[in-house]
Amino acid sequence: MARHLITSAIPYINGIKHLGNLVGSQLPADLFARYQRGRGNEVMFLCATDEHGTPAELAAAKAGKPVAEYCAEMHDVQAKIAEGFRLSFDHFGRSSSEQNKKLTQHFAGVLADNDLIREVSETQMYSHADGRFLPDRYIEGTCPNCGFDSARGDQCDNCTKQLDPVDLINPHSTISGSTDLEMRETKHLYLRQSQMKDQLDAWIDSKTDWPVLTTSIAKKWLHDGDGLQDRGITRDLDWGVPVKKGDEDWPGMEGKVFYVWFDAPIEYIAASQEWVDAGKGDDWERWWRTDKGADDVTYTQFMGKDNVPFHTLSFPCTILGSNEPWKLVDYIKSFNYLNYDGGQFSTSRGRGVFMDQALEILPADYWRWWLLSHAPESSDSEFTWENFQQSVNKDLADVLGNFVSRVTKFCRSKFGEEVPTGGPDLAVDADWVAQLEQNIRQYEEFMEAKEVRKAAGALRAIWVMGNEYLQEAAPWSTFKEDPELAASQVRLALNLIPLYAVLSEPFIPDAAATLLEAMKVDAEWPGAAADAVTRLPAGHAFAVPDNLFGKISDDQREEWQSKFAGTRD
Ligand code: MF3
Ligand code: ZN
Repeated sequence: MARHLITSAIPYINGIKHLGNLVGSQLPADLFARYQRGRGNEVMFLCATDEHGTPAELAAAKAGKPVAEYCAEMHDVQAKIAEGFRLSFDHFGRSSSEQNKKLTQHFAGVLADNDLIREVSETQMYSHADGRFLPDRYIEGTCPNCGFDSARGDQCDNCTKQLDPVDLINPHSTISGSTDLEMRETKHLYLRQSQMKDQLDAWIDSKTDWPVLTTSIAKKWLHDGDGLQDRGITRDLDWGVPVKKGDEDWPGMEGKVFYVWFDAPIEYIAASQEWVDAGKGDDWERWWRTDKGADDVTYTQFMGKDNVPFHTLSFPCTILGSNEPWKLVDYIKSFNYLNYDGGQFSTSRGRGVFMDQALEILPADYWRWWLLSHAPESSDSEFTWENFQQSVNKDLADVLGNFVSRVTKFCRSKFGEEVPTGGPDLAVDADWVAQLEQNIRQYEEFMEAKEVRKAAGALRAIWVMGNEYLQEAAPWSTFKEDPELAASQVRLALNLIPLYAVLSEPFIPDAAATLLEAMKVDAEWPGAAADAVTRLPAGHAFAVPDNLFGKISDDQREEWQSKFAGTRD
C-alpha cells in the first residue's frame, strides 16, 4: 500500500473564497486524495486557514472584532463551506495554532544556528496615526514617474513602475488616510536563500516530470535579474508568530512577528500535529520525518501559480536549511487562473461566484464536475454560465444520469428490482470490453499524473460507452423477441453503475454514494474490466435511485447570470 501526503495551499482567513480559488488548490487536491483512497492507498490530506498578516488584521478591524475572535469565526465558516463542497481533509487546521507557533520558532532557531539568517537594519514608513509600520502597498501617493495620483508604495498601477514608498509624492496611509508618516529605522531577519541557490537549482532540475508552469516560475526566480534574493521573514505587526529562536528570545526582535509567508507553509506540518492533538490519529512523524518512516511517503502539493515561488524556493529553503530530516515535496501541481464571464474573479471587488453562493444554488457535485473538467491547467480558463449549463446538462444529466435512470427503470419494469437471470454470461463483444479496459487504465494514468482535465475526459468517455451500449443493444426491443438476451444486456448495463460510481467518486462523491447505495454494493476499485462488468450476480437486489442530476433551464441560467453580474454586497 502506497502512502500519500497531500496538501492544498492554505486559504487566507479574510473572507470566503471564490470558485477560482477553489479550483486552483483545494478541489484538485481533494480529487487526488479521493482517488488515492479509492485505490486503497493510505492518505493524509491536510489544509488549514492562513491567518496571519496585515489583511487579516484589517479585515478584523473592519468587522469590528478582535483579530483572534475574527479568525476563529472565519475558520469555522470556511470549514463548513469546505464540508459543503465535500473537501475530504483529514484535518483542516489553523496557522495561528500553538503547534504552528512552536514549529515556526523552532525552524527559525535551527536556520539561525545553520547561519542561514542574517539581521538587517532598514528604514520603513511608520504611521503615527495608525501606530504601526505600514507595508508598502498600504501607502499611496502621486507617482513620480507618470503623475498618477493613486500609485501604491510598491508599484504604480498606471505606468507599472516599481516604486519605493519614499518615491511617492504626498504619501498617505490607505488605512487611516493619515499623512503623518515618517521613515523609521527598524531591524529585520532575512532568510539567506541566495546561499542555497545552487542546491535549489539542482533540485528543480531533477524534477523533469513536474508541470512546466511550476518549473518555469521557479527557474525565473532562480535566474532572472540578480538571481535568487534573500528574503525578509519578519514584520512589525502585532498579529502573528512572535519572533523567537526556538524557545529563546531574540535580542532586538522584541514585538516583531514572522512574515505570514514564513509560517504559513510550516502549518502543513503543524496541521498534522493538530490532527494528533485533536485525537484523530497518533503519529504525525511517520508522514513528515524521513527518520521516522516518512521516507516511503509520496508528498504532493496543489496550488495556484502565484504560490509557486514560495513552494519551490522559500519553503524548501526552510526545510533543507534546517538540516533536519523533514520530508521534502515530491511533486508540485500548479494551476493558472480561472476567469469569470469575460473578466477576472475578484475578492476585493466581489466579482464572480463565491463558494457559499455556489452551494446556495446547486449541490457540490455540479460545481465539482464543471470546475475540475475545466481546470486551468495549460492556460487560464473561463467560467461562463452557458458553458456551465451545457456541461451539467450534457455530461451529468444526459450522459451519466440518463443512463442510470434508463437501465434501472427498464429493469424494474420488466424484471423487477434485482439483477436479471438468464441469457449469455456477457452480453457484449470482446472489442467492447477491451475498449472499456483501455479507457479505465487510461483514466488511472491521467489521475496518477494529476492531469485533471484529461482525467475528466477519460471518465466522460467511460460514461459515454454505457449510453452507446444501451442505444445499440436496445434491450427494450430485444426483450420482445429474446427476453433472455435482454436480461443479459440489462445485467451488463446494471454492472456499469457500481463501476461508474467507484470511478466517478473523486469528481462527484455525492452521486457516487447514491449509486453505490442504490446498487447495494461497496466501493471496489476495478481490476480487469471483464471482472468489473460481471461483479453483480444474477438475483442481486437493488433500488432505483432518485434522479441524479437536474438540468439547468434557460430561465435559471439567465437568472443566475444577472444575479451574479454585479458585485457582492
Ligand atoms: N494563503 C495563501 C494564498 O491564498 C497560500 C498559502 S500556502 C502556504 O495565496 F504554503 F503558505 F501555506
Ligand atoms: Zn506611474
